[in-house]
Amino acid sequence: MKKFISNEEFNIIIKPILENKNFIDTQYTIHHGVIKLDHSIKVAYNTYKYSKILNMDYISATRGAILHDFFLSNTNGKSISKEAIELTFNHSKLALDNSNKYFKLNNLERDIIYKHMFPVVFSTIPKYKESLLVATIDKIVGSNESYNKFKKHFGYKILATVIPVFIISLAALFGYN
Ligand SMILES: [Fe+2]
Ligand SMILES: [Fe+2]
Repeated sequence: MKKFISNEEFNIIIKPILENKNFIDTQYTIHHGVIKLDHSIKVAYNTYKYSKILNMDYISATRGAILHDFFLSNTNGKSISKEAIELTFNHSKLALDNSNKYFKLNNLERDIIYKHMFPVVFSTIPKYKESLLVATIDKIVGSNESYNKFKKHFGYKILATVIPVFIISLAALFGYN
């Protein structure tokens, strides 16, 4: 397996997923202006890091995160099209169906995948704090990818402070424990 991040434990967690041809076949489309696999790995690695720091179930969180965009799109990177707009609202269900088909998932992993579009899809309120973490990281990574200028002003050092504070605040708001 090609190693994308030099962290042995992270690579061991994602290895069975990256070795699945059905998954990999969905990861070479353009997503937020980058190859989707880069996006998925970035979301998964940040999830791995922060879920460990925050003492969460980091293995399930990382697995859910790498699978969160397991769907095939034919939008050719266009974000303003009927299909792209529909996909914004229904791709988390497609990703869950695909993940259930090819992997044995626990309830937390299912919740992470299905609810990762919160709060854009507001009805999918996360049940677990790990799901909230992945939804938050996905939005930040996606914004970073879509807006290079944003990245210049808000690098990962600032995000490293902002993400935990944001998660803890939302977790307190929603009453997670
Ligand atoms: Fe997504
Ligand atoms: Fe995503």
